Amino acid sequence: MKIQSKFILVFCCLLSLYSCKKEKPSQSDDIKLQVMHPRVIWTEKPSEHAIISWTSTLLGKDNYVLYDTVANLNNDSAFKLNSSKDGKIFMRKMDYDEGVPEAFYHHAELNNLKPSTTYYFKNCTDNSCSEIYNFITAPDKEQPYAFISGGDSRLGGEKPRFAGRTPLVERKKINKMIAKMTEEDASIMAFAHGGDYCTTADWRHLYYWFEDHALTITKDNRILPLIITRGNHEHEIGFLENFWLGEISNEYSDGYFFMTQITPSSALITLNTETSMAGDQLEFLEEVLEGHRAKNNWMFVQYHKPAYPAVKDYDSEDFYHVRKYWVPLFEKYKISLALESDGHALKKTMPILNGKVDKNGIIYVGEGGLGVPQRDPDPSRWYFGKESIVESKHHLWKVSVYDSIANVTAFGIEQDTLHTFNIHAKPFLVESIDN
Ligand SMILES: [Fe+2]
Ligand SMILES: [Fe+2]
Repeated sequence: MKIQSKFILVFCCLLSLYSCKKEKPSQSDDIKLQVMHPRVIWTEKPSEHAIISWTSTLLGKDNYVLYDTVANLNNDSAFKLNSSKDGKIFMRKMDYDEGVPEAFYHHAELNNLKPSTTYYFKNCTDNSCSEIYNFITAPDKEQPYAFISGGDSRLGGEKPRFAGRTPLVERKKINKMIAKMTEEDASIMAFAHGGDYCTTADWRHLYYWFEDHALTITKDNRILPLIITRGNHEHEIGFLENFWLGEISNEYSDGYFFMTQITPSSALITLNTETSMAGDQLEFLEEVLEGHRAKNNWMFVQYHKPAYPAVKDYDSEDFYHVRKYWVPLFEKYKISLALESDGHALKKTMPILNGKVDKNGIIYVGEGGLGVPQRDPDPSRWYFGKESIVESKHHLWKVSVYDSIANVTAFGIEQDTLHTFNIHAKPFLVESIDN
């Protein structure tokens, strides 16, 4: 009897050990390796440099980009570039509760690229590679070009919840429109996002933003490079993890300010309203304007929180700081156009100089309409007038830049023209500054 009991006990122990093993397999045994969310990021010198980023479901041992200037991308002859930065995407309980998968970020920096060249690439984690995508580098010679500008792509759909995942109808529609516009007009070179990508930069939101971002890819797999602005919904670590800008953002989420030299005489300055607008950033702004305005016919500036808001309180501290610190430099160096977001409306101000409407002033457009539900703006403010637009409408802006003239058009969600106007290049003359 005793022997029989011992035998049963041993058998039960073995059975429970086997059951335990079966119930808790190691994660990597269970998860299928997938690569997803391809994107191309432009920072300072897009004629020779780009960052390619992606997500994978396992960390992998070998993360790399295969790229070349030939469409069929031969694995043996293509350039292989290892990623510069990889890691596990931070997840909190709410992310797990929402059911988004654990995932890993990867970023590779491509240098010494040729200008005006189509690069074909696939991103790979171990032996799992994406399909072949392509992007076009910026030119090193003058040529007409266009870029898309817009912000506030969180939420969307008929019954948005706080989590911002239902059902994202407008965001998806705008993204499909961006793909269509890029297919129709090859001169569109970049997508300048003005910030507030999602409700938070946690994974339960960013995951779906990246899923939807794939809708901007054209039928021939062209990816429009992103020029990233930080908004007030990008305070979580997920922004730094997933929108890595090389040394501009290395371990430092306050550092998202830089100048993108799009063509030899056309630049876009990106500023960060989510950190001090004075201090280092103000020094940076003055330095780039002083050093680069004279050689650029066109100097655009994008940032998230507006100087001249269409919706929110004009006297709010952040908006006041934009006016106090940055606007005097915009006016001193005569920037071409200011691109703003955050309000959730469509706006174009009258030209503004020294706190007054002035035909020699700067026009401020934007306020954010890439999917977020739109608010009611206040058209009675002093900086709106007969040449303005101020409405509650989803939209994006297309800025088409020629030698001495640029066309700025707001497109609605049906690709309908909501407002269009031209601005003229004002070559900056050093001797014309009053110090
Ligand atoms: Fe915002
Ligand atoms: Fe927003």
